[in-house]
Amino acid sequence: MVQEQFKQDVSFGLSQTPKRIPSKYFYDKRGDELFVQIMHMPEYYLTRSEMEVFVEQSSGIVASLAIRPGEEMEIVELGAGDGTKTIHLLREFMHAGVNFRYLPIDISSNALSGLEKYLNAEMPDLKINCMHGDYFRMLGDLKQSPVRKVILFLGSNIGNMPDEDARNFLASLSRNLNPGDKIILGVDLLKEKEIVLPAYNDSQGITRDFNLNLLKRMNRELEANFDLKFFIHDPEYDEAEGIAKSFLKSTKEQVVEIKLIGKRFFFAQNERIHTEISRKYNDTILRGIIASSPLKIQHCFKDQRGWFGDYIIDRI
Ligand code: AVI
Repeated sequence: MVQEQFKQDVSFGLSQTPKRIPSKYFYDKRGDELFVQIMHMPEYYLTRSEMEVFVEQSSGIVASLAIRPGEEMEIVELGAGDGTKTIHLLREFMHAGVNFRYLPIDISSNALSGLEKYLNAEMPDLKINCMHGDYFRMLGDLKQSPVRKVILFLGSNIGNMPDEDARNFLASLSRNLNPGDKIILGVDLLKEKEIVLPAYNDSQGITRDFNLNLLKRMNRELEANFDLKFFIHDPEYDEAEGIAKSFLKSTKEQVVEIKLIGKRFFFAQNERIHTEISRKYNDTILRGIIASSPLKIQHCFKDQRGWFGDYIIDRI
């Protein structure tokens, strides 16, 4: 079924002008490994900046949630992650004596069991219930409970959505929440090209391999014949627009056959496949995205350099 959707998306995307493929297809087993390596690259400041926010400011974050003494809470994380950022916040909840459960939701049961193992070892007293499945179905179920919720959506994952998708995503999220619930939204902030572009073009070539891995995946799963020698990683960042974009550029005129789709695709020399956007935010952009939802920015916790922000958003 996943394979069917992949076929359809590739067939449609490569028939468009300009050609494009959704970035969610980066994340096969190798793509997951490469993304972990990207997070350790010196140029990829996002993960370290957000980590700094959680290490240094978790007590401020918990205080901003205005939890009443003895109040029960549910901390719901969308996307399991590895827990290394969230643990600082969870420890702070414990420290503040909050009566809470931690509910990570993910479509990967592997990611959830890794997270659960890590947190059980590090925080044996933590009440954790892993929820395997679709975010909104799970949130729909949780909405029935009167317990106040804090939703974590970290790592600038929202940045990989076009603005319209981000708007719809946050609108759906708000429909699955009750007034008084909160969202903690981690976003990369607008800044100069000299800082952003290298994050998507690290000197060790890991981001290049991450992008090119999409071609390998199509070769393997869709019986395509992309020749990786003739495609290059081609990222760009337009400061005024605030969106980093990644492309795969064909270095020569060529035809690629994708057997399982039953199509051949022509590439002109220098023609590109658009593979990813990574939007950078500020208050004005985020306000525009949530304008039609019952959501309101309450505060933004930034790292010292002001590169990354964790927004506290109220469901009003
Ligand atoms: C997952 N996401 C937030 C990353 C980003 O920064 O947009 C994915 C990524 N792509 C290239 N490097 C990292």
